[in-house]
Amino acid sequence: MPGGSTTRDAVLVTGGAGFIGSNFILTWLQSTRSPIVNLDLLTYAGNAANLAALESDPCYTFVRGDICDSERIAALLREHRPRAIVHFAAESHVDRSIVAPDAFIRTNVHGTFVLLEQARLYWSSLSSAGRAAFRFLHVSTDEVYGSLGAGDPAFCETTPYAPNSPYAASKAGSDHLARAYYHTWGLPVLTTNCSNNYGPFQFPEKLIPLMILNALEGKSLPVYGDGKNVRDWLFVEDHCAAIRAVLEDGQPGATYNIGGNSERANIDVVTAICDLVDEMRPCSDDASRRKLITYVEDRPGHDRRYAIDARKIARELGWTPAQPFEAGLRKTVRWYLDNAAWVSSVRTGAYREWIAQNYAERLAL
Ligand code: NAD
Ligand code: TYD
Repeated sequence: MPGGSTTRDAVLVTGGAGFIGSNFILTWLQSTRSPIVNLDLLTYAGNAANLAALESDPCYTFVRGDICDSERIAALLREHRPRAIVHFAAESHVDRSIVAPDAFIRTNVHGTFVLLEQARLYWSSLSSAGRAAFRFLHVSTDEVYGSLGAGDPAFCETTPYAPNSPYAASKAGSDHLARAYYHTWGLPVLTTNCSNNYGPFQFPEKLIPLMILNALEGKSLPVYGDGKNVRDWLFVEDHCAAIRAVLEDGQPGATYNIGGNSERANIDVVTAICDLVDEMRPCSDDASRRKLITYVEDRPGHDRRYAIDARKIARELGWTPAQPFEAGLRKTVRWYLDNAAWVSSVRTGAYREWIAQNYAERLAL
């Protein structure tokens, strides 16, 4: 792809062809002309077409590469001399981490280590003003804090880490490395821990897009366990605005929790999706998609509840989520219905194999 930022204004984004990274780059370039270099391996979850609108934008450069490749990272840093790194690249799906955890340790732990180490070497070579201005923003998850009971207070920045899945453990490991690079060398690291995102471009293995597409196609809607697990849903554009705020004004060494103030039980999310799909694409016999809901065998170690206390970022940086869940869900359903070509381009053979593997042997309860 064209592009070619060589100024110190550039921001290096990793994993920018994935769900949150794509939204971050698209919204970034709508509000600033500060160049972006996007390093992405294009795993099954990455799709360069998410950023097709930027193909001829001189402020956008795409580089296909692996965050575990230290020589590649060093060369990129030398070439583009970025003022910041925003690190999204990861293996991100809990169910996959239960079936095949290796890739999670490789990318999330080792890859983050490689990136931090190369960032440290590059940062050490900068002038003192360059060092003071540089930022490494590590994007993490609320899942590092473990699981809450119904009446427990929400996760805050000082909640002890208690990861329960291989995904959460690998992200916790990466958070600890990021922390160590700040405390040992003073690398200006910022860490964000956010709740479940939803919105356009999310790969349809995750709850919300999977349920929208299954409902649309009249397939069963597989709800794990009793459907009463609770997640705090954050519209992806709100998350991107929070990351911009942390990048510009966050305190180096600090962590910020980011949430949507929208705790919902899974079954309530799925019934809301059924109703929206019924409204936008009524069934010919006027039947409700709710009849497709099927309770299936639970995810092993399934965390019961996540909830984020986002008062620190509101107090210190003035960020609060703007999108109410019901309005954000409506926009998201509309987007998936309007983007059938995108949907069919990401549902490759490998995707169909994953769906078969994850659901075929999950018995209905
Ligand atoms: P995603 O799975 O949609 O995208 C991940 C991207 O990283 C893909 O484009 C993929 O190609 C790329 N990638 C994977 N391995 C790579 C490697 N070795 N080198 C370079 N690129 C690689 O993920 P997402 O949902 O956009 O999540 C982004 C970040 O946000 C992740 O760090 C995730 O842990 C975190 N997060 C996500 C959520 C959520 O709800 N999606 C919630 C909290 C935190
Ligand atoms: P998911 O989107 O995988 O995010 P996470 O596990 O990171 O929270 O799942 C969100 C919730 O939905 C989680 O409680 C598991 C549940 N779930 C189902 O009930 N059925 C499904 O098919 C999937 C993918 C998830």
